[in-house]
Amino acid sequence: MKRRDIMEKIETKIIKVNEINPEEELILEGAKFIKEGKLVAFPTETVYGLGANGLNEEAVKEIFVAKGRPQDNPLILHVSSIEDIRPLVKSVSKEAEILMKKFWPGPLTLLFKKSKKVPNIITAGLDTVAIRMPNNPIALGLIKNSGMPIAAPSANTSGKPSPTSADHVIEDLYGKVHMIIDGGSTGVGLESTVLDLTEEIPMILRPGAITLEDLQSIIPNVEEDLSIIKNSNDIVPKSPGQKYRHYAPKADMLVFVGDVENMVMEIKVQAKEFISQEKTVGIMATEETKDRYGQGIIISVGSRKNMETIGHNLFNTIRLFDQKEVDIILAEGVELSYIGTAIMNRLKKASGGNIIKV
Ligand code: TXA
Ligand code: MG
Repeated sequence: MKRRDIMEKIETKIIKVNEINPEEELILEGAKFIKEGKLVAFPTETVYGLGANGLNEEAVKEIFVAKGRPQDNPLILHVSSIEDIRPLVKSVSKEAEILMKKFWPGPLTLLFKKSKKVPNIITAGLDTVAIRMPNNPIALGLIKNSGMPIAAPSANTSGKPSPTSADHVIEDLYGKVHMIIDGGSTGVGLESTVLDLTEEIPMILRPGAITLEDLQSIIPNVEEDLSIIKNSNDIVPKSPGQKYRHYAPKADMLVFVGDVENMVMEIKVQAKEFISQEKTVGIMATEETKDRYGQGIIISVGSRKNMETIGHNLFNTIRLFDQKEVDIILAEGVELSYIGTAIMNRLKKASGGNIIKV
């Protein structure tokens, strides 16, 4: 019995590309791979993507194999201009036009009714297609020169934290993809906001750096999918990808929410208890609190005064704890506003819903 996905290793070419002024010949090399139906991992402003020609079913199938991704989880198509979406969708609402003009290129993915041109494998059989225009010169150059939309999920093994550097991609996908474009570390660090505009009420299916508050200024009636707000595993999310455990470290993880002082006290108590059981404890602290713990492996994830730094570092920090082989991660939570909602959404998933109110 010969299964290609387990038997044969793919030769992975790694190229380093300048993230501000990408070398044209290198981008053309990547685009050539995409045109040939090969898999190319590339940086975006959010996280690294695992790209393939979005109109080539065979190529797209390989994405699912390389990631070990469930087939019922649809992919985002990446375009390099607003005009690129027209052949892919049935219609474009006035709201969508305004949002694209304001937020593209940027970390906002929009759902549209799909046209026949979009293969069913992209949408996992749904009648909507998710599309975004990334704000990264390498990504835009790659899409433009490929001459087609690029399908790209985050370039991690399914279930692991999304990659925010080429090293993360190499860790997960070396030998499984044809090319990895190293364009440095990604800025935002969290995946794009996914917004459904195909129903009566615009609905955020996955929170990201374009926040509820940002969107409210343009579409005041926008809401968040209940599964984002409620801390319950009983609510089935509307976005297929949101139902899986995600971003998961090897260690167990507990996330503490509430007043910062109480959080620090409770984490200290828990750390002491786990250490007395001879467990290696990782503490995900912040700049403001990192000197307060005194024991455990303490990593500051960023500053509470500049929450974007927490988004930027979050996945890398989870991977760092894995490298240090901690048994348990005790993580500080953040407030559920602006980008905090996206950060808490990832922490909730990473911890399997282990959220403790203090
Ligand atoms: O920032 C990002 O969005 C990154 C970079 C690479 O662009 N991509 C990314 O893709 O995060 P992925 O596949 O890891 O996540 C896509 C999310 C999943 O939760 C998926 O279920 C949802 O978007 N999605 C895609 N198409 C959808 C659809 N038609 N309806 C509902 N949800 C959809
Ligand atoms: Mg993903």
